[in-house]
Amino acid sequence: MLNFDFYNPTHISFGKGRIAKLDSFVPADAKVMVLYGGQSAQRTGTLDEVKVALGERQVHLFGGVEANPTYEKLMEAVQIARDEKIDFLLAVGGGSVIDGAKFVAAAVPYADEPWNILLSGGSDIKAALPIGTVLTLAATGSEMNNGSVITRKSLQAKLPFHSNLVFPKFSILDPAKSFTLPERQVANGVVDAFVHVMEQYLTYPVNAPVQDRFAEGLLQTLVEQGPLALSQPDDYDVRANLMWVATMALNGLIGAGVPQDWSTHLIGHEFTALYGLDHAQTLAVILPSMMHERRVAKREKLLQYAERVWNLRDGDDEQRIDAAIENTRAFFETLGVKTRLKDYGLEQAAVDAALKQLEQHAMTKLGEHQDIDLAVSRRVLEASL
Ligand code: NZQ
Ligand code: ZN
Repeated sequence: MLNFDFYNPTHISFGKGRIAKLDSFVPADAKVMVLYGGQSAQRTGTLDEVKVALGERQVHLFGGVEANPTYEKLMEAVQIARDEKIDFLLAVGGGSVIDGAKFVAAAVPYADEPWNILLSGGSDIKAALPIGTVLTLAATGSEMNNGSVITRKSLQAKLPFHSNLVFPKFSILDPAKSFTLPERQVANGVVDAFVHVMEQYLTYPVNAPVQDRFAEGLLQTLVEQGPLALSQPDDYDVRANLMWVATMALNGLIGAGVPQDWSTHLIGHEFTALYGLDHAQTLAVILPSMMHERRVAKREKLLQYAERVWNLRDGDDEQRIDAAIENTRAFFETLGVKTRLKDYGLEQAAVDAALKQLEQHAMTKLGEHQDIDLAVSRRVLEASL
């Protein structure tokens, strides 16, 4: 029986030229901190466009938020925001910049040591600065959700937090801004969005046909549009479809009231923290072996996935499950995202190191049944070599 609250307050403004709308979205008297990444927002002119749209407002620029944003860097922004009495944050970039802005938003009014936001998973956040975003990379869904993932370099820890107080007030999604992305980031985005759907869909049936059919539609759209984004890099419509599918993949809709997994993500975070793999690379490595390892617990959904997403109807149940897992791996490989730890130069020692980290971070009861302990994670990772 379905039973849930669905809450999502983010206003989406979608389409070419939408950055000009910032003027009506950001309060006229706001003291704005604009957060951005390494260079892309400057190089592509998006930052200039944002500055023009903000007009006469007081603006403080904060650049250098890294891919996989770090606590160390973001604490500089927290200090400045406190000193300058910033009252609005605008993130211009991909998931990393948006996640970074969410952390700053929660940390500025936080009385305690801000790393505790991560240690508590966000449950003790009592206030946050308002955030808006200008998205330049379709992948994480951070532009329309209440999650954020922050890395503390000194501890080699990458941890998530969630709070309804950090939902963006608005997000501007101009697909044309994603034309400048390198192929690797486009492919990463497709894989990340795909795995977001899988973490919420590939569990066990709870008679939620709306969530199931919607998830299957998102997966099929990614299978169709993902390769087109690489073969037709100038096609606006393809970029637009990709941006919308990635946003819908993790804005709460398909996950409402259904069991969720997230083990692939939580194990993957350890490989980014330890070895700097891109977030999507970690997912492409772990998901196929996770599907194989969990084929009994996920059996009904695996068969549904095989039939409805990949149209697999021949052979017995086991053969169709094998084929669905192989199609998933092949899809990632077709996009150019490698699916073996060895492809990234990682061997058995990396598996042992990641397991140690999982233990340290209390990631010992993962998955929709909370039964993925370290022994199961070890089997998954050894199968991922
Ligand atoms: O730093 P700059 O120079 O801006 O370059 C970025 C970055 O190097 C570049 N880029 C972004 N937009 C561009 C562009 N280059 C050219 N043209 C553009 N328009 O792309 C690189 C990657 O950017 P990043 O923001 O790191 O990528 P993504 O959006 O994939 O975000 C990944 C982060 O999000 C977290 C991940 O763990 C990772 O830290 N996630 C956040 C989630 C959430 N909040 O809900 C869920 C996800 O599962 C994920 O964990
Ligand atoms: Zn992800």
